Amino acid sequence: MDPIANPFAPGAGTPPPELAGRDELREEIRIAIERIRLGRPAKSILMVGLRGVGKTVLLERMRTDAERRGTQTLRIEAPEDRSLPAILAPSLRRALRGLAGFANALKVKYADIEVGVDFAPEPGLADNGDLQQDLQALLESAAEAAQKAGTAIAIFIDELQYVKEDELAALITALHRTTQRALPVVLVGAGLPQLRGRMGKAKSYAERLFDFPEIGALPREAAQRAIAKPVRDQGADITADALARIIEETHGYPYFLQEWGKHSWDMARASPIELKDVEKASKAAIAALDESFFRVRFDRLTPAEKRYLRAMAELGPGPHRSGDIADQLRREVTAFGPTRNALISKGMIWSPSHGDTAFTVPLFDQFMHRIMPGDDWRTASG
Ligand SMILES: Nc1ncnc2c1ncn2[C@@H]1O[C@H](COP(=O)(O)OP(=O)(O)O)[C@@H](O)[C@H]1O
Ligand SMILES: [Mg+2]
Repeated sequence: MDPIANPFAPGAGTPPPELAGRDELREEIRIAIERIRLGRPAKSILMVGLRGVGKTVLLERMRTDAERRGTQTLRIEAPEDRSLPAILAPSLRRALRGLAGFANALKVKYADIEVGVDFAPEPGLADNGDLQQDLQALLESAAEAAQKAGTAIAIFIDELQYVKEDELAALITALHRTTQRALPVVLVGAGLPQLRGRMGKAKSYAERLFDFPEIGALPREAAQRAIAKPVRDQGADITADALARIIEETHGYPYFLQEWGKHSWDMARASPIELKDVEKASKAAIAALDESFFRVRFDRLTPAEKRYLRAMAELGPGPHRSGDIADQLRREVTAFGPTRNALISKGMIWSPSHGDTAFTVPLFDQFMHRIMPGDDWRTASG
């Protein structure tokens, strides 16, 4: 069918034609923000889930939802190699500036950090030893300005798992303080599953300040809607068995749904999209994923890291015991400590429980079999 009319949108952070299965969570966020605005307690929310489940697009949708209701929002992506405060501070200042007149009154009070005037990145704030205090002061003054303006500040942060532990601790402490003062500020974050444990390690009371809803594959009905609705919105249709096959192949993972939807549409000569179209599309969809979604992650790995992941893949989708992975490579578990840690900080794997290792990318085990076929990896050095 006409590729120009193809509604599907595979791609990191690319908004889907139908954001299926996330209404409940959007409503939860709406309630939390509105409560905060009224000075009522509500927990901040950190959504955790694997790559490609739709965290980034959900975060952005929640932000536009909140913005439309008059909430002052700011959105950042936690950098892999820079400090969080260095990025958060200018955004907070911009928010303060947005809350205009109120910021002026505060400028006197917080003259030492010059709220609302400076747009340049903040080497001082990021690097000095008082990071915790500075972030807290800035967050409090922004929240006070929001309170005076009768609104709330909602901070949306993506990829939170990359934030260093002391910076996470500073963020948690600052939020703890605004919560105690019933100031209208809430954090809505997203990250890989390891985020939850990292928060607890950074500050033991983090669990009390945050909810950690898990974002995963879509349940059957939502997955079906994610495909069928966009097709029908274009005036076309898809047969029941074709739809069932897409759900089966993708396991309901949002990124894969988009990829299969896109290729099934392109393969079909005419509406409706049929099973044979999906069968042909599967090959193209997998090839496209191998070239993009999987590949960008694979290309960032060292040879030793690739071997480790290949050994994991040999055991199946996981999670796997570290000992079993080491056995595949015929070495002691301790020999792989650094490799495993590096893979965790690159966001490739995580540890669902002590001694267990799992992929953060769905179906990555099958990709590893395709990209490193055969048995050479067992003997290769590196
Ligand atoms: N609820 C959903 N329904 C349908 N497609 C979705 C949904 N959420 C995300 N997607 C699609 O999945 C892909 C990955 O989304 P993204 O937000 O980048 O995932 P993550 O941030 O978790 O890695 C995008 O192509 C997006 O359009
Ligand atoms: Mg993302």
